[in-house]
Amino acid sequence: MKATIIQRHGDPSVLTFMEMPDPVPQVGDVLVRVRAAALNRLDLYTRAGIRGTRLTADRFPHILGGDCAGDIVDAGASGWRAGQRVVVNPYLGDGTSLAMLGTNRPGSYAELVAVPAANVVPVSDSLSYEQAAALPTVFLPAHAIVVREGRMSSSETALVLSASSGVGTAAIQVVKRLVGAKCIAVTSTPAKADAALALGADHVINYAAEDMTQRVKEITKGRGVDLVIDPSGAQFFETAYALLAPHGRYGVCGVTAGYEVTLHLGLLFAKRLSLFGVFMGSTPELRDIVGAAERGLIRPAIHARHPLRDARLAHEAMERAEHFGKIILTVD
Ligand SMILES: NC(=O)c1ccc[n+]([C@@H]2O[C@H](COP(=O)([O-])OP(=O)(O)OC[C@H]3O[C@@H](n4cnc5c(N)ncnc54)[C@H](OP(=O)(O)O)[C@@H]3O)[C@@H](O)[C@H]2O)c1
Repeated sequence: MKATIIQRHGDPSVLTFMEMPDPVPQVGDVLVRVRAAALNRLDLYTRAGIRGTRLTADRFPHILGGDCAGDIVDAGASGWRAGQRVVVNPYLGDGTSLAMLGTNRPGSYAELVAVPAANVVPVSDSLSYEQAAALPTVFLPAHAIVVREGRMSSSETALVLSASSGVGTAAIQVVKRLVGAKCIAVTSTPAKADAALALGADHVINYAAEDMTQRVKEITKGRGVDLVIDPSGAQFFETAYALLAPHGRYGVCGVTAGYEVTLHLGLLFAKRLSLFGVFMGSTPELRDIVGAAERGLIRPAIHARHPLRDARLAHEAMERAEHFGKIILTVD
């Protein structure tokens, strides 16, 4: 099969499109013919070997990529059937580990990928492979913060940081279309701000040009927000945390901009706040997300498509951080 692999960690130039042996499904796996894969920030980290993703020498050549959708070609003894359209939950753990497809086992930047049968979710013809592949790794944490852990209600207001990120674009939709709450999106350029409004955000703050604290206070009439969705970590933590209303919740799923912050413990108890982290989500949760997409309630924001052989260009684009939503690799 054709695949995009790395022989060593490094910058995007280490991505090589080449012939690789077909994967051999292990007990409990199904073999999927990949039609589309979606990039995530983790792919950049794994390519570079940073943030806990460094591979031992015996793991090379390594195939990156978690999110993917395609057709089952070998169902093994799983009960699924060959030809079935599916999307893969790339989270390989049981809720305690961080194991991911494309980091901890060979991934989806390939014509074929072997994945645990328990991680596939059927997809109807109403979703394209590209749309399906764009769902798991951004909608699972967004849904976990807003719905599972954040228990947001329709009368509340959310603040979505890094609104242009894959996770941010998913969070805007979970807040608006699944919960029906108010959404304030925070991003960095006028073009991204327009795209966030078009996706459904009620208000947008361009932090490069506006004061976030002042704007949130204006929008919420001084009350603050009920839930913060934070994929970026150190960038705005202190500012956004201080903007929580009494009984507010702060959900973290990423640290793109850094790990360390100062936490004002006085606010935590005085306002009865909750601070929590999430990592991915379960395959039943992905089934619910796919169902919402099939019913047209949510739709992934797809920014650009590249053929698998051009994964290097896709990585360079994601590193520039000028995108709004998802970057897709298409596989013929
Ligand atoms: N816990 C989980 O389950 C989980 C799942 C998926 C992703 N994540 C994490 O969530 C974060 C977002 O992932 P993603 O795939 O959605 O990312 P992405 O699409 O690459 O996000 C890029 C955006 O993040 C913002 N950003 C903030 N600081 C940045 C920096 N120092 N460098 C580059 N961009 C920065 C910018 O948005 P603005 O211009 O709008 O500010 C940028 O456009 C990552 O840290 C990722 O590891 C966690």
